[in-house]
Amino acid sequence: MTEANGTATPVPGPDVGHEGVEKPRGRRQRQKPVNPIEKANKTPDEDFVQEYVKPSSGSWPQWIHARTEAVYTLSLSRPGDLCDEELDACFHLVDETSGADYRSSSFGWHVAVKKKEMRSADLRYILVKDADGAIKGFTSMMPTFENHEPVVYCYEIHLKPELQGTGLGTQLMGYLMDVAENIQTVEKVMLTCFVSNTSGLKFYEKLGFDKDDYSPRERKLRGGKTVVPDYVILSRRTATGDAADPRRRRRH
Ligand SMILES: CC(C)(COP(=O)(O)OP(=O)(O)OC[C@H]1O[C@@H](n2cnc3c(N)ncnc32)[C@H](O)[C@@H]1OP(=O)(O)O)[C@@H](O)C(=O)NCCC(=O)NCCS
Repeated sequence: MTEANGTATPVPGPDVGHEGVEKPRGRRQRQKPVNPIEKANKTPDEDFVQEYVKPSSGSWPQWIHARTEAVYTLSLSRPGDLCDEELDACFHLVDETSGADYRSSSFGWHVAVKKKEMRSADLRYILVKDADGAIKGFTSMMPTFENHEPVVYCYEIHLKPELQGTGLGTQLMGYLMDVAENIQTVEKVMLTCFVSNTSGLKFYEKLGFDKDDYSPRERKLRGGKTVVPDYVILSRRTATGDAADPRRRRRH
């Protein structure tokens, strides 16, 4: 292997450790069990759809707008497999539907930071494209650890106005829930929503999301002023999560 600066990097052979020390032959190496989150993140996109999303054939890869009967195509990709135009279209969609919420929040709208986050390697995008291949909606998720708990984090879900209120958001969130249910050990789907996004909050409430224990709380400052957070962390537990915490029951 040759690096960009021209220096050769030795590739360890099967019996040579990372330090280049030869390991005794004939003895079985004890394999560390692969964590289900890691396994999911290493799964190629096509297999990820089959193993974790497991969509019913009627719902994937085509989605039909009930009012206009226009046909849209769903696809799943990591950001590394999306072209710059696709990532830009997603970025502009976030700005279109939620830019005002970001700008008026304590987060602010930071183009470079957001674009970098949107390229995080372990994200999976589900894109919704119209017949001309234009992106009209998307969601992005990541199987990850949050506060040491295995979760599927919903990073984004945004639909163009003409696709809102059609049931498509419910269908896309259903795929995220399915991924969470199909990764052994995952306890919940989590997401962050601005308090100002009242329609988003109603949507998540309808889907059975509750305020997560890690959602920020109101804080009283020394001078007596109360700081009210402008975002909430919501979650919905999986069957594994329910079993791990019998105090909780999913709302349907
Ligand atoms: C939020 C969003 C993804 C929901 O997807 P959607 O396809 O519009 O939602 P659905 O049609 O599946 O609605 C499901 C339920 O959510 C509720 N809901 C959805 N939009 C709502 C709204 N604007 N006001 C009140 N309730 C709403 C409804 O109760 C609906 O149930 P119903 O069909 O029984 O009426 C979509 O509207 C969107 O992209 N909004 C702008 C971006 C955004 O806010 N994203 C979330 C960022 S955290």
